Amino acid sequence: MAHKFLIPKNIISGKGAIQEAGTYIKELGTRALIVTDNIMVNIGNVSKVTNVLDNVGVKYEIYSDVNCEPTDTIVERGIELYKNNKCDFLIGIGGGSPIDAMKAIGAMITNPGHITDYMGKVIKNPTPPLVAVPTTAGTGSEATQFTIISDTKNNVKMLLKGPILIPILAVIDAELTMTAPPNVTAATGIDALTHAVESYTSRVAQPLSDTFALSAIKRIFNNLRKAYNDGKDFEARNELALGALEAGIAFNNSSVTLIHGMSRPIGALFHVPHGLANAMLFVECLNFAVEGAPERFANIAKTIGIYKNNMSDIEAAKELVSEIKKICYDINIPNLEEYGIERAEFFENIDKMSEDALASGSPANTIKQPEKQDIANIYKKIWG
Ligand SMILES: [Fe+2]
Repeated sequence: MAHKFLIPKNIISGKGAIQEAGTYIKELGTRALIVTDNIMVNIGNVSKVTNVLDNVGVKYEIYSDVNCEPTDTIVERGIELYKNNKCDFLIGIGGGSPIDAMKAIGAMITNPGHITDYMGKVIKNPTPPLVAVPTTAGTGSEATQFTIISDTKNNVKMLLKGPILIPILAVIDAELTMTAPPNVTAATGIDALTHAVESYTSRVAQPLSDTFALSAIKRIFNNLRKAYNDGKDFEARNELALGALEAGIAFNNSSVTLIHGMSRPIGALFHVPHGLANAMLFVECLNFAVEGAPERFANIAKTIGIYKNNMSDIEAAKELVSEIKKICYDINIPNLEEYGIERAEFFENIDKMSEDALASGSPANTIKQPEKQDIANIYKKIWG
């Protein structure tokens, strides 16, 4: 079976990547719309990029209103700003939200109609050049063909897609992730780990996505605790940033599965941050999924060096699940109760969440396919 593999055209990574990026950015246009949030402006991450733009003579406008998960109205204001200022390319600086907003703004500069017209469709017309500068090691949005935008009229989180949404340039500079606080490092790091594990154990995994997924898993396992305990550890931050990029490339060319399918409803109903919701589900979802592909999970155990001689595949897979439990414990991932969710409210919503999870299509990519009842059981188990 043949496979297509998509990746950003240019990736600049490592120490000094932002400075290095100036020469490439200069080729992309003369006036950029920088899409970001207020925190990125206040902590100086935006000025690290604008200093480089000043040096190479590129002009820019700053749109720093992406202070929540992006909505259609945030995108519309961005389009207006882009047009009024005669911008000719875009730079997204931040976590997943500003980068997702940038992608949607770019798409609606060259595609007709309203952003909500594209739910469930592939966005076709090429965007102006998109530059992604991630400041968390998590979403992998810098490498993916997806953007998630909320439709504020219908209260729906739209998953929009199209290869044209893959940035032309991804700049992976761990210096910009150094200010992420421990709880953000933990949640985004587990999000990236989930991308890689799900990609590797998905029904639609392919040889090249496997390579990126396994490499990502190794980097994240070896460095997440270090970066959590010491945010100033540049080497650990750099490895995590590369791991998150690799994990993004992996699932962009494979898919996420049960965990992401089940975490979106928790995010939508209880406003649990995306990475945290994944972390809460990680162990119980794997307890369900390992039987479907023990050799795949065992391979992950071998990759991270926890496989012991004479273990069967299923024993190795279970060893992996307990290792994931340990890492979540070590980086203080709370459970639903500790996060402040009411038990009764959670249980009342299990039926709806199970339906929504299944309808998203992601659970069907798990090799051992879950029924609605399996999903409901997992929701019950994560309460403890
Ligand atoms: Fe994710």
